[in-house]
Amino acid sequence: MVQLSASTCLLGGLLGLLLLVPVLTTPTPPGLCTALKTLNGSLTHRRRYMKHNFPINYTIRVHYEEVFRLSNISRLKLKVEGLEELVLQRLWFQVNQGVLKKIIRVLPERHPSRPYTAELESRFRDAEGVFVQAHPPEVFQQELPDSIQDLWDRLTEEPDRVPESSWRYASPKYLLDNFRRTMQCLFTDCFASTDAHDDYCAIAHWRKGRKKLLQPES
Ligand SMILES: *[C@@H]1O[C@H](CO)[C@@H](O)[C@H](O)[C@H]1NC(C)=O
Ligand SMILES: *[C@@H]1O[C@H](CO)[C@@H](O)[C@H](O)[C@H]1NC(C)=O
Ligand SMILES: *[C@@H]1O[C@H](CO)[C@@H](O)[C@H](O)[C@H]1NC(C)=O
Repeated sequence: MVQLSASTCLLGGLLGLLLLVPVLTTPTPPGLCTALKTLNGSLTHRRRYMKHNFPINYTIRVHYEEVFRLSNISRLKLKVEGLEELVLQRLWFQVNQGVLKKIIRVLPERHPSRPYTAELESRFRDAEGVFVQAHPPEVFQQELPDSIQDLWDRLTEEPDRVPESSWRYASPKYLLDNFRRTMQCLFTDCFASTDAHDDYCAIAHWRKGRKKLLQPES
C-alpha cells in the first residue's frame, strides 16, 4: 500500500528525529490557559480550605494512581517512547476529577470548605470543557500507550473491586499541592515565567511533593 518514495523517507527521517524528543508537545490553546489560570488562582487558598478547616493529619482514601506527582510524570516520559503531552494532559484531568470527587464526598453539606471545593470543581470542569473543545474528537478516541491505558483502567476501576493494598491515604492539601504542581508542569506554556530557570517539571520541585503520604491502614 505504501509506496516508498523520497518524500516518505524524508517523512520517516523527520518522525525519527521527533521520536528523539522525549515528549511531543503542542501549544496550549489560549482559552484553556485562561481557564487553568483561574483554577490556579482558586488553588491559592488551598491551605486555608484544605488544611485549616480539617482535623490535624486528616487523610482521605484515594486510588494509588491518584497520588500523581511530578516524579510520576517524568517516569512516564522516560518509560513511554514518543509519549504525547496531550496524553499526559488527559491523564491529569482523569486523575484530578477523581481527587476532587473524593474530597467533596467527605465534606458534609455545611462544612466550611464545601463552597470552596465546589467552586474548584466547577472551575476544573470549565477547564476540562475547554480542553475537550480545543481538540478534534479523534484525539480522545486514540488508543493510549499500554502503560497509560493500564493506569487509566486502575483509575476507573469500581471501588469495590480495588484491593485494600491499592488504596493510599493522603491529605486533601497534599493532593491539591500535587494537582497544582502537575498542572503547571503539563500546561507549562500557560505558567511559564520569564525566569528560564523556573521549569515546573524540574526535579527541584519534586521533593516538595513527598511529604504526608501514608500507607494504607491495615
Ligand atoms: C498561580 O498562582 C500563584 C499564587 O498561588 C501566583 O503567584 C501565580 O502568578 C499564578 N500563575 C499564573 C500564571 O496565573
Ligand atoms: C500528625 O502527624 C505527625 C507526623 O506524622 C505526628 O508527629 C503528629 O503527632 C500527628 N498529630 C496528631 C494530632 O495526630
Ligand atoms: C508515582 O511515583 C511514586 C514515587 O515517586 C511511586 O511510588 C508510585 O508508584 C508512582 N505511581 C504510579 C501510579 O506510577
